[in-house]
Amino acid sequence: MRENRAEPHILVIFGGTGDLSRRKLLPAISNLSRQGLLPDEGSIVLGVARDSEHNDESFRALVHEALLSKGFPAEDVGRWCEGCLRYQTIGRHGAEDFLALASRIDAIEGEHNLPGNRVFYLALPPGAFPGTITGLGEAGLNSSPGWTRVVIEKPFGHDLASAQELHRLIHAYFDESQVYRLDHYLGKETVQNLLVFRFSNPIFESIWNRDRVQSIQITVAEDLGVEQRAGYYEQSGALRDIVQNHLIQLVTLIAMEVPSAFTADAVRYEKTKVLRSIAPVLRHDVVFGQYARGVIEGSEAAGYLEEPGVAPDSRTETFVAMKLEVDTWRWQGVPFYIRTGKRLPQKLTQVAVTFRRPPVYMFDSLGFCPITSNVLLLTLQPDEGFSLFFDVKTPGEPFNVETVPLHFSYEDAFGSLPDAYETLLLDVLTGDQTLFVHADEVETSWKIFTPLIEKGLEVYPYEAGAWGPPEADQLLYQYGHMWRNA
Ligand code: BG6
Repeated sequence: MRENRAEPHILVIFGGTGDLSRRKLLPAISNLSRQGLLPDEGSIVLGVARDSEHNDESFRALVHEALLSKGFPAEDVGRWCEGCLRYQTIGRHGAEDFLALASRIDAIEGEHNLPGNRVFYLALPPGAFPGTITGLGEAGLNSSPGWTRVVIEKPFGHDLASAQELHRLIHAYFDESQVYRLDHYLGKETVQNLLVFRFSNPIFESIWNRDRVQSIQITVAEDLGVEQRAGYYEQSGALRDIVQNHLIQLVTLIAMEVPSAFTADAVRYEKTKVLRSIAPVLRHDVVFGQYARGVIEGSEAAGYLEEPGVAPDSRTETFVAMKLEVDTWRWQGVPFYIRTGKRLPQKLTQVAVTFRRPPVYMFDSLGFCPITSNVLLLTLQPDEGFSLFFDVKTPGEPFNVETVPLHFSYEDAFGSLPDAYETLLLDVLTGDQTLFVHADEVETSWKIFTPLIEKGLEVYPYEAGAWGPPEADQLLYQYGHMWRNA
């Protein structure tokens, strides 16, 4: 078992009063504290925001309410908020504001006898990253008597050039070893388990290749629409929002070679090798879609163009399907079909590994046709677990063959799973970058997808509640395959 207990520190959250902070970060930190994974006396959260109306007291009240609404026990919450939370306004992000922040940090560290270990978490829209990174660097907050780490969340740029520019700016002040690029998918238990599943169970290694695997499908489906996020999503679309980060990260974990060690460098090196091996994606191997009005689970759902904040003639894609080719000795010729979409029939993140059929099928003389082969389904959410499908003879007469699953459920075995943010925040505090994305990964991934953005692909409509436009099915038919829906 890995022993993970954070050293005394101060966690500075820019955007401390914002949605991400209240919904995810502060509940995760408070939970880590309740589990005894943070030092009792030496874990301070300093919320930072523009709002000069807030102060320590009102910030605590805000967080108190957010935690109670999540069902946290009132007594624990009260004690934690009082002991651990502080607030600092950052005004207009001017140089004097960062100097004031630096003085406040010094004062808190002095008061609590902290050794100068600092995390700066940018829970901010991407447009605010450059100003904040520069402000921190110019105020000398990029180093400290202890360690200093900075966390940024996707999107890391909106294409290759902007990602490179962002990295140049970050690296002007911070070393890569201080930078934690957070993709919350990597913190999900089931996503981490892909490494254990593959590299702790040698029975799969000998069949995890082009000789045995016919195709791989990865689906990240959501039943929700764009919600209140049109402002962001209109600029992003599904390719930038999910494919370039969450989905491609899943591809790397499925396709990578065994790392030489379970360390950040070794794991990230192997993931980057996969990205470098992905062949340029052909225009006819990509389908973009946009949801139109439809019905999901009996309820009417508006079309994307009717959502608040969406331009009436928007061509933003809410669905992407594509075929990727990973040109390595292990995977050459095995299609990786990936897709994501909003307003699909259900929320589902799943990897389906379809193995090759028997070379000669002796039961076809009895009228059976092996339409399915053995399939390994790794369900990352919800109903986390996996199933391996086999053909069996059904008992008695007449002779019959049926496909049945051998199933493992996380919930049955272990109960509920921790939130990804708990895992990732603890990793930041303990200095483990294994589950964070390296600058090379981001740029290599943009090299794959930027040309597609520039192609101006057609966007096909699909009804809300369908598995994307019919063109997405055609994409697979042309290669003799079908999507596996749930
Ligand atoms: C985010 C995307 O990164 O991931 C959202 O910006 C998406 O559009 C979300 O809804 C999905 O995350 P999860 O953990 O619910 O699968």
